[in-house]
Amino acid sequence: MSEALWLVVPAAGQGRRMGAHCPKQYLPLAGRTVMAQTLARLHLAFPAARLCLCLDPHDAYFDPAWVPFASWQRVAGGAERADSVRHALAALAGQAGEDDLVLVHDVARPCVTVGDLERLHAALRGDAVGGLLAAPVADTMKRGDGQGRVARTEPREGLWHALTPQGFRYGLLRRALAAAQRGGVAVTDEASAVEALGEAPRLVPGRRDNLKITHPEDLALAAQILAAQQAEGESGRDTALREAQ
Ligand code: C5P
Repeated sequence: MSEALWLVVPAAGQGRRMGAHCPKQYLPLAGRTVMAQTLARLHLAFPAARLCLCLDPHDAYFDPAWVPFASWQRVAGGAERADSVRHALAALAGQAGEDDLVLVHDVARPCVTVGDLERLHAALRGDAVGGLLAAPVADTMKRGDGQGRVARTEPREGLWHALTPQGFRYGLLRRALAAAQRGGVAVTDEASAVEALGEAPRLVPGRRDNLKITHPEDLALAAQILAAQQAEGESGRDTALREAQ
């Protein structure tokens, strides 16, 4: 079976920590919505990929004009992020091959660069398990005691921030998320579900500016990151595309 590339973008969250009037993926960022920025980056890197977009069934904001992919479908999100991704994988049954690569990317990460996306894809293409973009922890890590004081300092050696995309073979990822659901294990990313099967996902070093918009101050930060990336030509190919036009 020929290996296709699938993109799953969970975008069914409410983003309550933003405290905004609408879910964070619909807030304006550098002249578009956060969602449109994120989808544009993914499309620059993988124009021929097929997209599955998880949306809240009661979503009142989504505009299909933001989707640059020729082949895409929307699925109803679930209660948690992992449920949304499970729904997407279920919708791909009969379309995706067992060994097809599925990249799952948070809609709230619009600053992912084409360079990182391409390096992740290259690193995972020949990998039987899969892996994720990740950044080594730079700060000293404290464990809180739950009462606003330090319980202890955690060694940071070997610690990584788990970013997205996270990419796995379709069959493995589907089994992993199904097993997590059956076991009642709460997973906040795809890798932890795969780890629970005894597999060791590959850590692919990624840029630290692959910010997940979560808190109100993150929106302005994301705008600055996008502007800085444009200036260094790192958004990817939009600079090249503009120059070619
Ligand atoms: O809330 P948080 O930023 O951790 O969510 C990560 C990603 O998962 C976001 O892209 C969000 O839209 C998505 N999500 C989802 N379904 C949920 C909860 C979150 O698709 N039920």
